[in-house]
Amino acid sequence: MKAIVAADRNWAIGRGGDQLVYLSEDLKRFKALTMGHTVILGRRTLATFPGGRPLKGRRNLVLSRDPEFRPEGAEVCGDVESLLKTAEEDAFVIGGGSVYAALLPWCDTVYATRIDAAFPGADTWFPDLDADGAWERTEESVMYRDEIEAYVPQSPQEEGDRRMILEYIRRFPADILTRDNAIAHITSSGFVVNADASRVLMAHHNIYRVWAWTGGHADGDGDLLAVALREAREETGVEHIRPLSEKIAAVDILPVWGHVKRGKWVPSHQHLNVSYLLVADDRDPLEVRAEENSRVGWLPAEKLLEYTNEWQMDGVYTKLLERARRLLGKD
Ligand SMILES: NC(=O)c1ccc[n+]([C@@H]2O[C@H](COP(=O)([O-])OP(=O)(O)OC[C@H]3O[C@@H](n4cnc5c(N)ncnc54)[C@H](OP(=O)(O)O)[C@@H]3O)[C@@H](O)[C@H]2O)c1
Repeated sequence: MKAIVAADRNWAIGRGGDQLVYLSEDLKRFKALTMGHTVILGRRTLATFPGGRPLKGRRNLVLSRDPEFRPEGAEVCGDVESLLKTAEEDAFVIGGGSVYAALLPWCDTVYATRIDAAFPGADTWFPDLDADGAWERTEESVMYRDEIEAYVPQSPQEEGDRRMILEYIRRFPADILTRDNAIAHITSSGFVVNADASRVLMAHHNIYRVWAWTGGHADGDGDLLAVALREAREETGVEHIRPLSEKIAAVDILPVWGHVKRGKWVPSHQHLNVSYLLVADDRDPLEVRAEENSRVGWLPAEKLLEYTNEWQMDGVYTKLLERARRLLGKD
């Protein structure tokens, strides 16, 4: 059997009867790996699913000592012995803590998503495989790196920048997602358009004193789409910003000049930037975030470059506008 788990730095997996965090990339991976297979879970984990219902497209084997427990659409096993008799060799153990602990001795593979954070208040753990000499790491993939690797460059600029971004990630795996890396770090931006891409949502930046797209530092968060969405919402006050596509829309290395931030000198460095295309309703209320920008507004797409007036960004905004229009069938 195999186990599949999402655990934090300390192998914590749950808090207050629920997951620590729901990561869209991880949920996709979970679905792709387990679909069509048998999943093995504890009664308490079943209770965390929407409506307490079993997972679709998979045979659900639930462990419970309660003989009265008969959830619809799932089979119940009263102990590990009876479970092992019925579970297939390619079944997935999907949690929670007590079921992982009980069945790990029968697993030959663990698909572990490690979240680079330590969640306070966690109360359920997966066995610490780093400390267990019987387990070895055979393959490692990093989700944000996989996403950038999967991106098909659309120009020589993107081909070169994507290659360099992957090289930075290879050289600085420990801190490329954080500002601790003073040479380069990953940032994520959102290019927000309205329903027909005739207007683009931008904020007038305090430091650079220009109209600019939204976005910011990953600061350790490898879910780069979530970073872009969060920054777009925070910088504009627009609540309902959605992805036009969940895929990366562009990659760019953006050099940053040295500058003073909160009284401290920040030396010149590189932003290894991925962009996402986002969409919002241009009638929704806007809100200025005084510590970052002085104005927020929907700029006319036709005159975008006149407003932004930053030659280094012309190519970036132009390609993103074209790609948004293409996705919306407006090109
Ligand atoms: N991060 C992840 O990947 C992940 C995955 C799954 C779950 N979780 C989290 O883990 C937590 C739940 O874990 P948990 O340990 O509290 O509960 P659990 O393992 O999901 O379920 C525990 C229940 O399973 C039954 N059970 C367990 N071992 C058994 C055995 N040997 N024989 C018969 N029945 C057995 C018992 O049910 P009865 O009480 O009915 O007898 C027990 O109360 C939640 O916070 C959840 O969100 C995290």
